[in-house]
Amino acid sequence: MAASNTSLICVNDYEKAAKGVMKEAAWAYFSAAADEETTFNECPAAYKRYYLIPRILRPIEERTLSTTVLGETISFPVCISPTAYHKFAHPEGEKATSKAAKSCDTLMILSSISTTRLEDVAEVAPGGLRWMQSYMFQDKQLFEILVRRAEASGYKAMVLTVDDPREGKRYKTIPYGYVGIYEADGMGMANFDVDIEAVRKAKVTGDKNLTRYGYEQTNSYATWNYVKWAKTITNLPIVVKGVISPASAREAVEAGVHGILVSVHGGRQLDGLPPPIEMLQRIVKIAKPAGIEVYIDGGVRTGTDVLKAIALGAKAVFVGRPVLWGLALKGQQGVQDVLEIYRDEFDRAMSLTGCKTIKDIDSTLVLHKSNLHTAKL
Ligand code: GLV
Repeated sequence: MAASNTSLICVNDYEKAAKGVMKEAAWAYFSAAADEETTFNECPAAYKRYYLIPRILRPIEERTLSTTVLGETISFPVCISPTAYHKFAHPEGEKATSKAAKSCDTLMILSSISTTRLEDVAEVAPGGLRWMQSYMFQDKQLFEILVRRAEASGYKAMVLTVDDPREGKRYKTIPYGYVGIYEADGMGMANFDVDIEAVRKAKVTGDKNLTRYGYEQTNSYATWNYVKWAKTITNLPIVVKGVISPASAREAVEAGVHGILVSVHGGRQLDGLPPPIEMLQRIVKIAKPAGIEVYIDGGVRTGTDVLKAIALGAKAVFVGRPVLWGLALKGQQGVQDVLEIYRDEFDRAMSLTGCKTIKDIDSTLVLHKSNLHTAKL
């Protein structure tokens, strides 16, 4: 069921409303993107460059929206991207998000820089499907500990963020300073409170230094060897997040990953990247023959956007900021409401394009504007 509140009819309504309730620093942190925010602004706009070419008068009663990701069933192909610091959006933080994901029967990727320990995120929503995100931390011991904890808590995959050798320049957050933002209200990087020498040292001088330690784990030295090494220390599937170029997709295939999340990190890293939806088909062409699933995030705001991404080859789409908007407004209920809007709109988009199941959604249903007058239809 979609949210009944008449001022919150679509996902974009949540953005406006969330801005009104979030603290200034929180809004700056979540809404920020890199440099002139060109890529960030292009992401949702790019979806509108694709038109839908529906099939009509098809029997579309009894639709099934469910699909699988890495062999696990989800009730519809909209999942939660990893975003940091959920307590910055709502006091219940990642626990609320986790319960919402479970209640909507979809997948949540937990950010390693969450304000709730990964064990607690799992515990509040037993049976929920979760993957664990991690950066390729300089301290491999830290990475390995995180992997072991994720395994022990039932997370079903490791998601490695591969587009973050250093942080993009985000004008909006600079006035706050990173510790100022991340440690507001006494929040910290809950997953970093582990018993290793480097962390013990960092903690000597307090929580802020623990966050600084976590932050300094950003790894400018990581290469595909790190991804290959990660594969050797766990049986969990490895998904790489932040691939946008076909050349990198080929390297990901060679590294033996199980999934590729086509993403520009919400426009927060390198400004000037093309929107993910424009690169999706080319990456699918490289990954699919190797049996690798491809997902996408960045700018998905409507059910028709979801359908377009699936039609162009994504196994599922992920949403980041919209989840935070729902969370900021109404905690768990808000996240559920946002996800249900996507479900309802996607179901409608399937009906109106003549699709009963996910398998019916194929590339004949979408057409890039630039091909409108030349494509053979
Ligand atoms: C973290 O990955 C961020 O984009 O802030």
